Amino acid sequence: MAKVLSVVGARPNFMKIAPIAAELRKVPSFQHCLVHSGQHYDELLSGNFFLDLGLPQPDVNLKVGSGSHAAQTAEVMKRLEPVLIDFQPDLVMVVGDVNSTLAAAITAAKLGIAVAHVEAGLRSFDRTMPEEINRVLVDAISDLLFVSERRGVENLRAEGVSPDKVFFVGNVMIDTLLRHREVAARSPILQRLGLGDEGAEARSYCVLTLHRPSNVDRKEVLHGILAAVSEIAREMPVVFPIHPRTRKNIAEFGLEGLVSMNGSGSAGIRLLDPLGYLDFLALNDRARLVLTDSGGIQEETTAMGVPCLTLRENTERPATIEFGSNRLVGTDGFRIVTAARAALAEAPRSSRVPPLWDGHAAARIVAIMQRYAKLEVAE
Ligand code: UD1
Repeated sequence: MAKVLSVVGARPNFMKIAPIAAELRKVPSFQHCLVHSGQHYDELLSGNFFLDLGLPQPDVNLKVGSGSHAAQTAEVMKRLEPVLIDFQPDLVMVVGDVNSTLAAAITAAKLGIAVAHVEAGLRSFDRTMPEEINRVLVDAISDLLFVSERRGVENLRAEGVSPDKVFFVGNVMIDTLLRHREVAARSPILQRLGLGDEGAEARSYCVLTLHRPSNVDRKEVLHGILAAVSEIAREMPVVFPIHPRTRKNIAEFGLEGLVSMNGSGSAGIRLLDPLGYLDFLALNDRARLVLTDSGGIQEETTAMGVPCLTLRENTERPATIEFGSNRLVGTDGFRIVTAARAALAEAPRSSRVPPLWDGHAAARIVAIMQRYAKLEVAE
């Protein structure tokens, strides 16, 4: 018997742990404890995802909530430590790059517990991104590093990580996407928004997501992006499921005017609450163009062949550009509008899927964990 404890905290973690939890359930000799840090606590950012993804309710919820980076990270560490001491896992598994990922990895490593990091090796080489700090630090103290794209292996090698800890396994987020794509196609979201029929090839709207502090915490940057998007929205509706941080800042900076174009004819910006996993997948799958500053959405659009403009100057996921439908356009308004017009004028790009983004990443991870834990590997 081997005990695995995994820690999730924020929205992008849930779809990464779901396929791993499902694979672990198939191996009776693994005992799995799922801990939610409570970094995301809104139903819209957290609870709905557990339902959509068929994730079991967490065994433990640390309920840390929001706070500064230091306060949030420290709170997860303080509250997780007694849970680790009590459960005595053989391995702690963390996914992605959020503050909860870092906090859990440090806490486990300091207790001498082995750490497995899923989505290791990604680097934007931009240390102003909180996630970049989290990635570098988590990888430095992990014992098993599961990598989603080849460049990650090179990045880890360049940082001196021993190659026998590094496993190129593919992308667990794409496991989840492939598993749910058909069910998501039955979502009534497009009809609800008046954007097309269930299952129809709509492709007559854009989708926008925006939450990165560098884009939404400064008035002039947020203003520039929203002004560009409202320009695009004159030509095609833009659906904007909005993160609470962004909603708060739009109100604080007095920018509501730029996103209050709801209902003005066929175009305009449609502001929505954050969507559940299935509705959001359905929406993106039939979008004409996606504009985003998220990491995961760059990967999902690549897997679906939907054109994506990333509103950042860099990406830690270069395979989405090399193989996929992603382009970096930064945050300059003129550049965003020009790139969007060009993308809308072209035929929708189909994209190649990066190696091992094939729906079996979680199975590879669990097979490696079995060998690591010296458990019998099922043929
Ligand atoms: C976090 C991750 C980011 C990830 C994003 C996905 C870090 C450093 N950042 O950013 O990598 O892409 O999640 O959404 O871990 N809030 C709510 N309800 C919630 C949670 C947060 O209203 O359930 C609001 C609060 O005002 C909070 C703010 O959002 O202060 C930021 O939340 P936080 O968890 O610190 O970071 P995110 O911006 O969500």
